[in-house]
Amino acid sequence: MGSQRHNEIFICKNCGFQSLKWFCRCPDCGEWNALIEKKEEGSRYSSLAQPPLPIRQVPSGEADRLKTSIDEFDRVLGGGLVKGSCVLISGEPGIGKSTLLLQVAHRIAEQGLRVLYLSGEEAPSQLRMRAERTGSLTGDLLVSFQGDVEEIISSAETTSPQLLIVDSIQTVYLRELQAAPGSVLQVRECASRLFSFIKEKGIPLILVGHVTKEGSIAGPKLLEHLVDVVLYFEGERYRPTRILRCQKNRFGDTSEIGLFEMCGAGLSEIKEADQVLLPARGSWSSGKVITAALEGARVLLIEVQALASQSYLSIPRRVTNGFDYNRLLMILAVLEKSGQRLGEKDVYVNVMGGFSLDDPAADLSVALAITSSLRDFSIPPLVALGELGLSGEIRPIPALDKRMQTAARLGFDQFLVPVREGHISQLNGISLWEKSSLKEAIAVLKEISKERQIE
Ligand code: TYD
Ligand code: MG
Repeated sequence: MGSQRHNEIFICKNCGFQSLKWFCRCPDCGEWNALIEKKEEGSRYSSLAQPPLPIRQVPSGEADRLKTSIDEFDRVLGGGLVKGSCVLISGEPGIGKSTLLLQVAHRIAEQGLRVLYLSGEEAPSQLRMRAERTGSLTGDLLVSFQGDVEEIISSAETTSPQLLIVDSIQTVYLRELQAAPGSVLQVRECASRLFSFIKEKGIPLILVGHVTKEGSIAGPKLLEHLVDVVLYFEGERYRPTRILRCQKNRFGDTSEIGLFEMCGAGLSEIKEADQVLLPARGSWSSGKVITAALEGARVLLIEVQALASQSYLSIPRRVTNGFDYNRLLMILAVLEKSGQRLGEKDVYVNVMGGFSLDDPAADLSVALAITSSLRDFSIPPLVALGELGLSGEIRPIPALDKRMQTAARLGFDQFLVPVREGHISQLNGISLWEKSSLKEAIAVLKEISKERQIE
């Protein structure tokens, strides 16, 4: 809107569309009577404006990190919570966000710092019960049930906490807005009030945002570009493993993940990360191949399962769980081109352990798991690594040596990898195939499955 200043703007309470003119029907989302008038206020961060300084004289925020002493959490943040920053943690309801944050609050409060935990979802007595279960009862942890953003800010003013936690952004509201909590307008407005408060006070804020499978609730997505750090807490509800991923971080890199296990007494850290998602070894089977994914500085061994079965539909089904759907379609096309007939097969791909694989090095494991199921090749536990090109070539991948060493240390002894170059470490007692095309890799599968038939 350039440098022009207007006193009033109209905002759609359904979708957040803004306009200088009132419309009976929102031009963006089509909702009737949804535009409401609002006084436009200047930038909320104007109090932070200062004359320009030489960059060397600007104080560094690095020393100002609050460490929670939960290593898996601190590492994902790049070394702790930066003062005056806002962290958004989102995930499906029931995954464990409140539990994690209560434990984080406890660890900070244990250091003699004051933490204010405001929940719009649970009563203080429920929070206490949870704190008892997770051993998080600390004197300096203040809790309250609050949704009104103005009350939240005034509580924070009076208690002067060193960390503010708001659970969740969907339950916070500003009374003067005629929109429901969780709507685009409320989420945006409340978040911006909270941001200006914490920036002024120089304390970190952790905001919880729920996402549903459909992603229909306004919230996390809307705030992603406004906050400093975006974390996703994910996992399967009926399995204990939880993964904390960083999607955006203004103060560190986003490649690290944090691993936790939900147990009877809350979340515990998983230090021996490479062992958690470890697939069962030993048995021969079809449709299962192991990959070694690189997550930050760690290597995780993950089992990929696939099923290719006769389809009775005019357009066969392609279902994936934990793997990118479009990437699967590409792999299927490459497989088809390499002579595997999948046109009349339903294909299901499942990444075990509730993990989502986005490392391209997993391509080969997916392709081979599908082939093994399609051709009914029973194979021993095989670690397959490599990115697939459209012409069926197996491309080199980063940190191949490190991945192979981790897998070998954990007892895997069959490897199918791209042709290795440069420094190669010797691994004893393993069977290793270095292949440059998918066709050759499939020939290896066939060969090892035959060994079983001979036995
Ligand atoms: P919660 O933190 O309330 O999830 P969110 O805030 O993301 O909605 O976690 C709820 C689940 O965690 C609940 O289904 C029970 C489980 N849980 C445990 O298994 N052990 C525990 O000690 C706690 C506190 C919760
Ligand atoms: Mg919760």
